[in-house]
Amino acid sequence: MESIIQSSIEKAVALLKNGEVVAIPTETVYGLAALIDQPKAIDYIFELKGRPRSNPLIVHVANLQQAEKLCDSFPTPLKKLAQQFWPGSLTLVLPKAQQVSNQITASKNTVGIRIPNHPILLQVLKETGPIAAPSANPFERISPTTAKHVADYFPEGLKMVLDGGACQAGIESTIVGFENGEVILYRLGAVSLEEIEKVVGKVALFNAQKSTVVTPGMSKKHYAPKTKTVVTKNINDFVNQHATSKIGLIMFQQSSKLIVAKEVILSPSGNLNEAAQHIYQTLHKFDQLELDYIVIEPLPNKELGRSINDRLSRAVHG
Ligand code: TXA
Ligand code: MG
Repeated sequence: MESIIQSSIEKAVALLKNGEVVAIPTETVYGLAALIDQPKAIDYIFELKGRPRSNPLIVHVANLQQAEKLCDSFPTPLKKLAQQFWPGSLTLVLPKAQQVSNQITASKNTVGIRIPNHPILLQVLKETGPIAAPSANPFERISPTTAKHVADYFPEGLKMVLDGGACQAGIESTIVGFENGEVILYRLGAVSLEEIEKVVGKVALFNAQKSTVVTPGMSKKHYAPKTKTVVTKNINDFVNQHATSKIGLIMFQQSSKLIVAKEVILSPSGNLNEAAQHIYQTLHKFDQLELDYIVIEPLPNKELGRSINDRLSRAVHG
């Protein structure tokens, strides 16, 4: 059988225009894409992912003009962030324009928008116009960072995965909005909190108790491997206490020098961006090895280390 992993941009564009769902590469993670004016295809995205329809999709656009058409206003601090980080791994939550359907925004009055930084996807977007796309994983599973991850998740029900290689950033976009005159960070991601604050000053972190905005990406259980996953500083103790278990170890910079079934070092040079690029890929790989445990050393809690730690804290929940 012909593989669904293909590299024809023309074919992807034709399928999308024909109201199909196509998996697309971005620099963060792969997405499940549909054109914003194709309600049946958008509905099918929710069905394929098993995602609650109360969880809004973000919209990807080719340029600032397209973004401006999809929102009612563009608060100045968010405009500054767009100028600094687009195209790139930052999603801005903006007051939505009429033409963005409630189906996409889950009936919110805001819409999440970003210009991705991936040459193949930008080419697609230039020809199709705005595309709604969540990450291309089943609900609550780890986001895919290669075309093969997507094809493995959806062996049926998807006509094409547009191959764009391994994702450069490797974790999802950072999500930022503006509420009551304040810049709010809803989801840590591939643009660090430090980088955001350099442009707009101190930002508030989303607080589920205080806010009326529901961002299911912030829910506790998310991004989970199937294998029981533990994050601990005490790697030695854990391995010694589980001597008969098959353990996959994920270390940041240095080997544990312990005898385990498998060990991966995310970045021998201690680069947090490189660690982000490798984290999901390693989790996907380990999840195939029938391990008893995936044990992860927490990363330094700064820059992208903070974003990775946030994801890992969700991977271990429940
Ligand atoms: O890097 C990414 O952002 C990837 C790639 C494909 O672009 N997409 C992605 O989409 O991670 P998704 O749907 O898996 O995560 C987007 C998050 C969801 O948790 C959703 O609840 C939140 O963004 N979101 C979307 N629109 C929103 C809005 N108007 N207000 C608040 N949160 C929103
Ligand atoms: Mg997702």
